[in-house]
Amino acid sequence: MAFPRPTILALALLALAAPARAEDLRIGLITPPPHQWTRSANHLAAELSAETDGRLNLAVFPSGQLGNEAQMLQQLQSGALDLAFLTVGELSNRDENFGILTAPFLVDTAEQAAQLLEGPTASALQDNLGALGLHGLGYGMAGMRIVLLSKPLEEGGTVAGRKIRTVPLTQELDFWTRAGAAPTPLPLPELFDAYTNGQIDGMQLDFEGTFNNRFHDYSAVVLDTEHMIFPMVAVASARKWQSYSEEDRALITRLVAAETAQIREAYPQIDADYRAKLVGAGATVVKAGPEIFGDAVTTWYEAWRQKTPLLIQLETEAKALREQE
Ligand code: BEZ
Repeated sequence: MAFPRPTILALALLALAAPARAEDLRIGLITPPPHQWTRSANHLAAELSAETDGRLNLAVFPSGQLGNEAQMLQQLQSGALDLAFLTVGELSNRDENFGILTAPFLVDTAEQAAQLLEGPTASALQDNLGALGLHGLGYGMAGMRIVLLSKPLEEGGTVAGRKIRTVPLTQELDFWTRAGAAPTPLPLPELFDAYTNGQIDGMQLDFEGTFNNRFHDYSAVVLDTEHMIFPMVAVASARKWQSYSEEDRALITRLVAAETAQIREAYPQIDADYRAKLVGAGATVVKAGPEIFGDAVTTWYEAWRQKTPLLIQLETEAKALREQE
């Protein structure tokens, strides 16, 4: 007996009824599990799973498990990695314009930092990510940068002569060199050993990282300079991005934007909470301004306005934010 051949309509209905294929995605980041960026990545994974009934399964790789940011960048470019929360370190070394976001004393507060990252210059800068094989999904941030010194700073003194841990970012290395210090790029996981064995005698970090690693126990002074924004850029692999459905792209865009917005909103309070914890733990937290860097701030701006004129536009936005206060 001959069975009737399925009609095209029946086949289409069958295809619609079939469950969409489950997809495994990966996100890499250098921060450890307790850090806000990692917590946000875990929350993103939970939201993606909930909104797709488990179809999109995002595995989170914190603490540089997939390698350092240079290695993660290569994986993003080849499509071996889907998403990452990156500092601007590696991005600036490939496109100097990203370094303008780390200009010294650009804003006065973490609230202004968050607003600046939502502004037109920072937003438009994300278009440059395409040339690096990335798709921008928005900015987060970490705490405002501060300075820890293992030996005291004398009255009216500067950081000249100190060996200071930085991130490997051209503009930052240049800033510390101009301040007469010896900048020493080190990734987060190597910091503890380097500080406690005297390989470095100071570092640029934030209140959160200081308290969580107990770096204040090894510091004569915690200088509350809040001299630099530390942006995070949420990115997708441009190659992988093309392979997702339009619906999945819209979902990932929306959920990552919600996470980065939450991070930007959270950091002013995170900074304040960890500063208070440090004071409570007996750390010597001292407010300090541009004077501790000698004339580095002035000469840095003179040089980098020439090299990256986009900085001038960002400074105009930052000035307007400072004047709103
Ligand atoms: C750092 O290397 O100092 C750092 C990296 C990511 C988040 C916060 C700090």
